[in-house]
Amino acid sequence: TLDMDHITTQLEKVGLSQPPTFSGVQLSPEYNPVDIYRAYIIEQIHEITGAEPAIINNAVAWTQDLKHGDLALPVPALRLKGKKPDQLAIEIAEKFNCPIVETPIADKTFVRFFFKPGPLASLTLDFVLKQKDQYGFNPLLGKVDSSKPDSKRKRMIVEYSSPNIAKEFHTGHLRSTIIGGFMVKLFSAAGWETISMNYLGDWGKQYGMLSQGFEKYGSEAELERDPIKHLNEVYVKINQDNAAEQKEAIELAKRKEGLEKIKNPPKPMKPKKGKENEAAPEIKWGEEQEKELEEVTGQLEKVQEELVAKPSIDEKARQFFKRMSDGDPEALKYWQKFRDLSIEAYKHMYARLNIAFDDYSGESTVQVENMEKAATVLHERGVSEDSKGAVIVDLAKHGAPTLGKTLVKKRDGTSLYLTRDIAANFERYEKYGFEHMIYVVASQQDLHLAQFFKILQLMGSPYSEVVARCEHMSFGMVKDPSGQTMSTRKGTVVSLADSLDAAKDFMQNVMRENDEKYQQVENPEATADVLAISAIMVQDYSGKIINGYNFDMKRMTSFIGDTGPYLQYSHARVCSMARKANVPREAIENADFTLVTAKEGVELVRALAQWPDVFLNTYKTREPITVLTYLFRMTHMLSSCYDAKDAGNRNAKTMSVMYAESEEKKAALMGLYEAARQVLGNGMRLLGLKPLERM
Ligand code: ARG
Repeated sequence: TLDMDHITTQLEKVGLSQPPTFSGVQLSPEYNPVDIYRAYIIEQIHEITGAEPAIINNAVAWTQDLKHGDLALPVPALRLKGKKPDQLAIEIAEKFNCPIVETPIADKTFVRFFFKPGPLASLTLDFVLKQKDQYGFNPLLGKVDSSKPDSKRKRMIVEYSSPNIAKEFHTGHLRSTIIGGFMVKLFSAAGWETISMNYLGDWGKQYGMLSQGFEKYGSEAELERDPIKHLNEVYVKINQDNAAEQKEAIELAKRKEGLEKIKNPPKPMKPKKGKENEAAPEIKWGEEQEKELEEVTGQLEKVQEELVAKPSIDEKARQFFKRMSDGDPEALKYWQKFRDLSIEAYKHMYARLNIAFDDYSGESTVQVENMEKAATVLHERGVSEDSKGAVIVDLAKHGAPTLGKTLVKKRDGTSLYLTRDIAANFERYEKYGFEHMIYVVASQQDLHLAQFFKILQLMGSPYSEVVARCEHMSFGMVKDPSGQTMSTRKGTVVSLADSLDAAKDFMQNVMRENDEKYQQVENPEATADVLAISAIMVQDYSGKIINGYNFDMKRMTSFIGDTGPYLQYSHARVCSMARKANVPREAIENADFTLVTAKEGVELVRALAQWPDVFLNTYKTREPITVLTYLFRMTHMLSSCYDAKDAGNRNAKTMSVMYAESEEKKAALMGLYEAARQVLGNGMRLLGLKPLERM
């Protein structure tokens, strides 16, 4: 990174020395050029108004739109008594004097600060070119004591992706993977020690089902070739068989339910608008119906008994899972293989998405004794209760009426999804001792997460203290372009690999539309893959995390508009220009950046100076859209630089490296473009994209 001496030398050139510091104000001038400005601005405003440095620091804000200044001060935020804010704004503007800032502009109750272009370019481009892929990131944020650079890093677990072996890897899992991957990158860049955890759905009766299915339909060769796809196919088939077996029972259960509804009708709903005068349908319940209900109930019980005695696929699955739970090696043989092969296959797909997990845990790895321990605590602290041989928690009785009743232990003693989550939470703490843990799970599971968090709270210390460090990061659903829920069951896409491949093929066709260019791409397949994945990720990031979106292959793969391919194109374009210009790195780093004077260039410099603040803001919002919005704004400025015209000579491109009037100017311009490429690349990597150098 940059050391303070280097920065001071830079500042001495404009008659300043080391930027001032203030107690209670944490600035990071060695990571953020704008913080150098903040230091001087705080010093001056303090002198002029007497306001506290900490208050001034909170008040001075970065601007989304540079026409409002590089920094702006809303005067009322200084909370000074006496003077009227608009008058005070004028006074500050008049008295303010700093060699690297223009005379401020008093704009009603605001004071707007514009940084002088020359020194800003020197400082900022120097920062970027020296800090390279670290520029913008602040590793102090994740320290236990952020004012001490040698303090320990805080630790965070991010649990994400978490697919279910054998079941489909649906868009919910894909979104969890993308968002979780972003969180890991964001917090790592802020200096946290992060642990990427995949909590596989690898336990439960469905694995009893799958094992039976494999005996009937499985093929070792197919399993080795594409385990995820094959296991899914087998699972679908055995479920169909099961459904056929259960058909009679299901129909009887439906009839029974229907009759019971007539017997005990639910509260009448409000009549629909305009139908207020229509009489509610008359519901008859008599001796005849009573007899029918009795009959149906009897038949259902008989069919169910038969299914158990037969035994049915479902019953065999239950027994099989019971054997797995009891640790029967014969029963676990297949399961282990399914798990190992699936993980191998997942790893390949995750690599395409630029993601690697540190810990493949899963529901199967939750220790039985920890579930027993939790059950004892729940019982002893009066949280759980017995219900016909099973154990339940009635959260309504514990101050959470909206969370309802929930089962924590089945009658046969096997655990449940919920029970495993309860025990896993503390287990993870014992293993890693984290400061924070994020569960990245779709909003469909809001209730589940709220239930198990609440149960852990009710369990008291130490469970309640650990769950207080946990957070559910919920996200909205992905729908198809017409707004329908996407399901791989409905379509032909089975595995994640298939959907990534589909996006890649689509992307390759988009690229082929420009055949001449396509012929020049060195490795069109690999390029198409990176572009397709960028397209998917950027689309995913284009709104707030909590909102869903429509999966629109055509729109997201376009090179026009705010898309992943557009960002990649912008990056590759600077790279190609740099290759052609071929200015030595040394010349670039030692260039005189005050030669960047065209208005488009100055704008771009100002945007590049903002990147550390954008990162800081993203750390607060934890929304990838914060980064994305900035990157699109910055790349638009970058592209205006290419075509910038000389005000005096409309035929000359003032910012063209190729036609620069001197070697000095050429090096300075190249430094600006190189810095823009660096910031774009840093932002893209933060989002999990692999910046392309050619395409
Ligand atoms: N495997 C689950 C599913 O696909 C998601 C797991 C979420 N994480 C958790 N700790 N419950 O539905």
